[in-house]
Amino acid sequence: MPHRTDVVVTDLRAEHGAPLLGLGTALPRLSWTARAAADVPATWEQSAYEVRVTPLPPVPGAEPPRSWSSGRVDSGDSVLVPWPAAPLRSRERVRVEVRLWGRDAEPTSFSRPLVLETGLLAPSDWTAVPVGPDWDEDPGVDHRPALLRREFSLPGPVARARLHVTAHGLHEVEVNGERVGDEVLAPGWTSYSHRLRHRTHDVTHLVREGGNAVGAWLADGWYRGRFGIRGGSRNLYGERTALIAQLEVDLADGRRVVVATGPGTGEDGGTWRAAHGPVLASNLYEGESHDARLAVPGFSTAGFDDSAWAGVRRYERDPATLVAADGPPVRCTREVLPVAVLTSPSGATILDFGQNLTGRLRIRVRGCAGDRVQLRHAEVLQDGELYTRPLRTARATDTYVLAGGGGTGEPEVWEPRFTMHGFRYAEVTGWPGRLDEGDVVARVHHSDMARTGWFSCSDDRLNRLHENVVWSMRSNFVDIPTDCPQRDERLGWTGDIQVFAPTAAFLYDCSGFLASWLRDVAVEQLPDGTVPWYVPRVPASFWEPPQPGAVWGDVAVLTPWVLFQRYGDVGVLRAQYASARAWVDLVERLAGPDRLWDSGLQLGDWLDPAAPPDRPAEARTDRYLVATAYFAHSARTLARTAHVLGEQEDAARYGALADEVREAFAREHLRPGGRLSSDAQTAYALALVFDLLPEGEREAAGRRLAELVAEDGNRVATGFAGVNLVTDALTTTGHDETAHALLTETGCPSWLYQVAMGATTTWERWDSMLPDGTVNPGQMTSFNHYALGSIADWMHRTVAGLAPAEPGYRRLLVRPRPGPGLTSAAARHETPRGTAAVSWRRDGDRLVVDVDVPLGVRAAVDLPGRPVSEVGAGRHPFEVATTTPPPPVPSPPRAAPQPA
Ligand code: BGC
Repeated sequence: MPHRTDVVVTDLRAEHGAPLLGLGTALPRLSWTARAAADVPATWEQSAYEVRVTPLPPVPGAEPPRSWSSGRVDSGDSVLVPWPAAPLRSRERVRVEVRLWGRDAEPTSFSRPLVLETGLLAPSDWTAVPVGPDWDEDPGVDHRPALLRREFSLPGPVARARLHVTAHGLHEVEVNGERVGDEVLAPGWTSYSHRLRHRTHDVTHLVREGGNAVGAWLADGWYRGRFGIRGGSRNLYGERTALIAQLEVDLADGRRVVVATGPGTGEDGGTWRAAHGPVLASNLYEGESHDARLAVPGFSTAGFDDSAWAGVRRYERDPATLVAADGPPVRCTREVLPVAVLTSPSGATILDFGQNLTGRLRIRVRGCAGDRVQLRHAEVLQDGELYTRPLRTARATDTYVLAGGGGTGEPEVWEPRFTMHGFRYAEVTGWPGRLDEGDVVARVHHSDMARTGWFSCSDDRLNRLHENVVWSMRSNFVDIPTDCPQRDERLGWTGDIQVFAPTAAFLYDCSGFLASWLRDVAVEQLPDGTVPWYVPRVPASFWEPPQPGAVWGDVAVLTPWVLFQRYGDVGVLRAQYASARAWVDLVERLAGPDRLWDSGLQLGDWLDPAAPPDRPAEARTDRYLVATAYFAHSARTLARTAHVLGEQEDAARYGALADEVREAFAREHLRPGGRLSSDAQTAYALALVFDLLPEGEREAAGRRLAELVAEDGNRVATGFAGVNLVTDALTTTGHDETAHALLTETGCPSWLYQVAMGATTTWERWDSMLPDGTVNPGQMTSFNHYALGSIADWMHRTVAGLAPAEPGYRRLLVRPRPGPGLTSAAARHETPRGTAAVSWRRDGDRLVVDVDVPLGVRAAVDLPGRPVSEVGAGRHPFEVATTTPPPPVPSPPRAAPQPA
């Protein structure tokens, strides 16, 4: 059939992009992008699609597989389109192709195929049960990681082999001496009792006819290692670690051999055995100790003598709680070399990596047996020494004892396996001989999401700020969205991600990552609707039992909505709907008939810079004003959610509730003359962005907010509750210049104060480092927290001018508001429908703007001094007159820059 060649279908993907192997659903939703391969009319739009599905049997048969086709489906949908074919079965492998029609008769050619394979979809597919070492252990201490192994034989050539694996604790698996995959901290952290994620690996190339062996390293991790706030607790999920592994090998003759963890002897006579390995201790906070003299070479190869090893014990686990991972794994994404080797005043050797990051060090070292190298990590120096007080009880210390071979010969290469640190600096002690370049490398680790968003402008300080936001996202998207990566905390604080999610969704594709975590929010929610302060819950903690708190609990409503807005994912709204409703219903009960939420523990505008360092909730904005504002906003967002889901009765009910709370807010907090009961930046920001004021009062509120900013010397005066709103509140009330003044201020507190102080990530506190270069005395002082970086979302939408106007960027809003002092800015985003970009530059008294709109998408272009216009796909240049001349170069920061 003839087909058109000017449009091609690209980026065909299933669910949230990855993983394609071991997919956990029988009905994977499909997305694709139409791209112009040649000149296509800007108005081209998909009007129909066809999906072709071809089964790929494990063992190629004589019969070529027959394809199934959806036929032509009249629809413009291209994002998360429902699976059109019969539900997939467990272990089914298929090739999927898509082609499209515009308004005319000729379709495009079929896309490049996407190969999908489901994992174990039904609990009954699991024969593996948890097994761990059969030795007695003291439950009151962290434990030495164990090794497990088993041999098996394959009675014929192999066609395909899959390993489905997870653990109680952390695992790393080897088959025939080779590591399986490159995932780190597997299986990550979920609410283990409800959901334990597994992954499927292709190990076809690692197994062979005849004798084989599988081996595993098993460590405490979140499951039973010391973890939590204020010292934490052990055994959060259980007292014993265990591996759950099911290796399924399809032989070329069609037989299937299954080697699964279980007690006793398998069909082929193989048994699981356990022993200690060279890792002496490993904990996420403390670090890892490894004695290479105790290495067990060849333990995962056939023929290894395990006669002295112990047996295994079996543990219980309902296989219905095993779920396939639906986001990317944690892995090393880059390596960073030291930028300087420092000698501290006390004589210590300190490596400076020039960048605060999350990861760990890999060392390459030569020396004698028993030489002990110690690596201590920290984010900052004070008085030239490693400064570890902010880590609290996290020791963040790795130790390697050399197997030895002397100063010549092959170097020993080591990196810890089951720990992670947040650091820029590392102190090295006990290094034998000279430390050469490349001997110590920082390996950056985080959930390996695809980067999707970029920003740049003519002010390098803002570029550094943006870079810091990206680094803090990288550092804290380590399987779950954490508050910080370094101290004895690293919890999935719900308020932090609630505030940061819009920024995150621009920078990286975190759709699968956050959808998975939101499942845990729902399962950890209390029966009355209370959302825990952090998810997964850490049962033994100061914050238990959880109490309902605004901003934090609102994650249940607001974050699914962000994922819908940014990724067009209706499924996540549906999956989280009951959880979202339970939250708003709870707050409705707590607020009572006057619709004011004025009770209970509220963290409010957490970390308002005016709050005393040891009382971060004592903000200028009343905490109950914050709570009622969020109540109104969540009720409104829930009404919108209900509408999208076709729940019209709920939409009307929550819409009416939102109206009532809005009125109650104004009644309680709006004073005659337009002032709010808390005359503070966050109060106005909430009232304006959440639309809580009568129409006639908005202008006065915007003016008052601008005045407050000016009175504060353009210093920011919000904590977590207002930080992502204050600039929007200014720009939507016509105070663009004040918003830019706030953004570009360098005095403390401000975003650029941190940059001026040499920050390479965003800090927890506006002044985590004080102007004199000392660390804030609060016992909670991280240099790597993302909440205050949520300004970046406004930078993308308003400084550069690229925003979604409809869910999934079906329509763009291009609305740059060039700030004084900037001569250019640009943002680019890989939307679910293709690449969108906006860039502008000043050319004399003209503003020159370029807009790139993906195929099938439209954009509303709103430029200063020009009526809004609507454009279709392609590149569109614009030029308008500018009125604001760039001001002179800003004055230098008040504080002397310090490395941080
Ligand atoms: C965390 C947060 C969190 C806060 C709430 C802190 O310890 O690091 O970012 O949201 O506690 O209490």
